[in-house]
Amino acid sequence: MYRTHNCGELRLTDAGKTVTLSGWIQRIRDLGGLLFIDLRDRYGVTQLFINPEQHNALYQQAKAYGREFVIQVIGKVSERSSRNPNMVTGDIEVIASDINLLNASITPPFTIEDDTDGGDDLRMQYRYLDIRRDPVRKNLLARHQVARAVREYMDGKGFVDVETPFLIKSTPEGARDFVVPSRLNEGQFYALPQSPQTFKQLLMVAGMDRYYQIVRCFRDEDLRADRQPEFTQIDCEMAFVDQEDVLNMFEGMVKHVFKSVRGINLSDFPRMSYADALKYYGNDKPDLRFGMQLIEITEIVKGRNFKVFDDAEYTAAIVAENCSEYTRKHLDELTEFVKRPQIGAGGLVYIRCATDGTYKSSVDKFYTQDDLKNIAAHCACKPGDLILILSGKQHKTRKAMSELRLEMGNRLGLRRKEDYKPLWVLDFPLLEWDEDDKRWNAMHHPFTSWKPEDESLMTDNPGAVRANAYDVVINGVELASGSIRIHNRAKQELMFRTIGLTDDEARYKFGFILNAFEYGAPPHGGIAFGFDRFCSIVTANLDYIRDFIAFPKNNAGRDVMLDAPSDIDLRLKNDLGLK
Ligand code: AMO
Repeated sequence: MYRTHNCGELRLTDAGKTVTLSGWIQRIRDLGGLLFIDLRDRYGVTQLFINPEQHNALYQQAKAYGREFVIQVIGKVSERSSRNPNMVTGDIEVIASDINLLNASITPPFTIEDDTDGGDDLRMQYRYLDIRRDPVRKNLLARHQVARAVREYMDGKGFVDVETPFLIKSTPEGARDFVVPSRLNEGQFYALPQSPQTFKQLLMVAGMDRYYQIVRCFRDEDLRADRQPEFTQIDCEMAFVDQEDVLNMFEGMVKHVFKSVRGINLSDFPRMSYADALKYYGNDKPDLRFGMQLIEITEIVKGRNFKVFDDAEYTAAIVAENCSEYTRKHLDELTEFVKRPQIGAGGLVYIRCATDGTYKSSVDKFYTQDDLKNIAAHCACKPGDLILILSGKQHKTRKAMSELRLEMGNRLGLRRKEDYKPLWVLDFPLLEWDEDDKRWNAMHHPFTSWKPEDESLMTDNPGAVRANAYDVVINGVELASGSIRIHNRAKQELMFRTIGLTDDEARYKFGFILNAFEYGAPPHGGIAFGFDRFCSIVTANLDYIRDFIAFPKNNAGRDVMLDAPSDIDLRLKNDLGLK
């Protein structure tokens, strides 16, 4: 038997017991001839003690061990003379009487400590050592807890876990497909699913009624902190539901997960239209942990010979409370921030609302004190506040303003880690104009239905058609996306035509689902949560998902541990018909 207990288990009540532990050596300390070893496993750390006066041979043997050696130890649990209140096992130590070396270790390339000296790439290259570190291990255990809570909820609501294939035909989620060459069908390729979208809809046609799956998805897209090329979704679909049914079901799921994993009771999610999200926050995933809404001032700043504002399609302000004393340096930094190419604003205008009731702005040349007072009043700005203003094309300026708002939120400490502000964003446009291809694209995906009252716009003004689509957003992160689907062949064909597919192309790509819709497809809808994002938000409120994935890819899409992607065997290439 390798062990009677694990390394996080022993307490004072176990004193006097003879136990066997196995684990890794976290640290060895030789204090004037007394040897202490911290032994670690997944469950915790237990201190071992060797007294050379009692066990000199053992002492000599253990002294030669190093970090990360794997040992088995037999010994007696004993109360510590100096207890460590920071460790759950801190009241006891195990007085070793025998140690068995199970395996040696060379010196690890970075320290296996909470604050490691290993850089990202090194940690990824030796991910199996990184996972031995407490923070990473805790994240993976938390991921397991989230999955468990999700399954518990879904099972309780009658959802059935059905697996769908990975070797499929292209799914239209908007990213590029990863493809797999077929040996048996030379020159042809499978695509890996960007999501199981069409399969879950077919399961509804098949009468499964309530489906879910915690499933891997693959997307060949540019990577960011919250994006991996392979990631996991909690993919869900329900038959005979309208939007309200779906929102209630999955708001319940998010609440259940927060409650069972973190003990947090989320209150009911507010709902906001896509149009309002853009109007008040400048983007469709607003961080509601703080206010600082965008205030449009396009008209009230015109007519004072300031060309930038006079010519602008859109001018907007945000108010940073109690920031009127911002220094020149602060304001220059903010100006640099908005002028960065990723944000692309031409410049930043500010108005300081001094505590003595006067105003000082970067456009004093054009605006009188009365003008500035007017603007301040429109923005409900109080003495001591700072107004920040951007101007230009509406879409671009709103985006830039959103970035500036988030930056100010960060600077002012308003995006607190302990706050959770979920919301539903509703009424997304069905279509968006693709300037490169000069055609309409489905904003969510082409299986999304539209509001019946907007039906006539499908031909007259497709850009104004609103979709039955919804997102869950938490703290500025898009956690989930879904929609009520089209379940009628003619409507689905209309959608395909609207996004520029000929009837032949539609049949070639999506004939299987068009056909299925002719065999009694029930009304249905669903949603998919980014599971990695869910884990990182619920446990740590981070939008950095890599630490919640056991073996992630780096920003270039590489697995640096495996050194993948890599070339393949020439013979395999030939078999696959790849030259
Ligand atoms: P969508 O494409 O919006 O919808 O994806 C759903 C959720 O998956 C997460 N997500 C990602 N997470 C990590 N890395 C990525 N590269 C990545 N891409 C997406 C996000 C997102 O909200 N089939 C539809 C869902 C439906 O209509 O039911 C779909 O896949 O959190």
